[in-house]
Amino acid sequence: MSQRSSLLSLQHYFTQGALYVSSEQTNDLARIFNDSYERVMHGPGKSSGEFFVAFYDLLTATSDEAASKFRNTDMAEQVRTLQSSVTVLLNFFVSSRQDEYLGKLAERHSKRGVDIPPELYSVWLDCLIETVRQFDPKFKDDVAAAWRVVFSKGIEVMTSRYAGD
Ligand code: HEM
Repeated sequence: MSQRSSLLSLQHYFTQGALYVSSEQTNDLARIFNDSYERVMHGPGKSSGEFFVAFYDLLTATSDEAASKFRNTDMAEQVRTLQSSVTVLLNFFVSSRQDEYLGKLAERHSKRGVDIPPELYSVWLDCLIETVRQFDPKFKDDVAAAWRVVFSKGIEVMTSRYAGD
């Protein structure tokens, strides 16, 4: 199977809700994600942070529920912390080793923290992908698939801790 068709079939897996990725695919996806991340963060005429500002603008314009969760948030600070969590999520995607940070992040988003119901993650991820489409001049299906898998693995951990104790 060519790399392209294997990535497209991967995207199909998502729509089915499954999340199994071989180690070869993991490396391809991590590389595609990394290259795209570089382009959205440091592309011509782009200042670092602009991408995440645009993402939060889209998220809060798309979902009133998401907007209400951020009503007391310093969004400049939020952009900085989200940016630094990307490396953690990418590491987790590649290594499957869950560090303390991811556990704390899950706890913060759970019912006991800022209370983010699992359904909000799909709106969140769709807005993220849409922002990538706007910022990455080389955006195509495999780029979207790479962003989706990298974040989905972290999201699985976060949503699985939503109600637990
Ligand atoms: C993979 C998905 C997500 C990641 C990586 C992520 C990342 C983060 C990070 C790094 C923080 C700051 C944590 C800290 O202060 O230590 C945060 C806080 C927060 N996140 Fe998320 N988040 C995700 C999904 C979501 C979703 C779906 C929502 C729902 C709209 C959401 C709403 C919030 C809120 C309300 C806060 C607290 C803001 C505040 O301090 O006022 N997050 N998130």
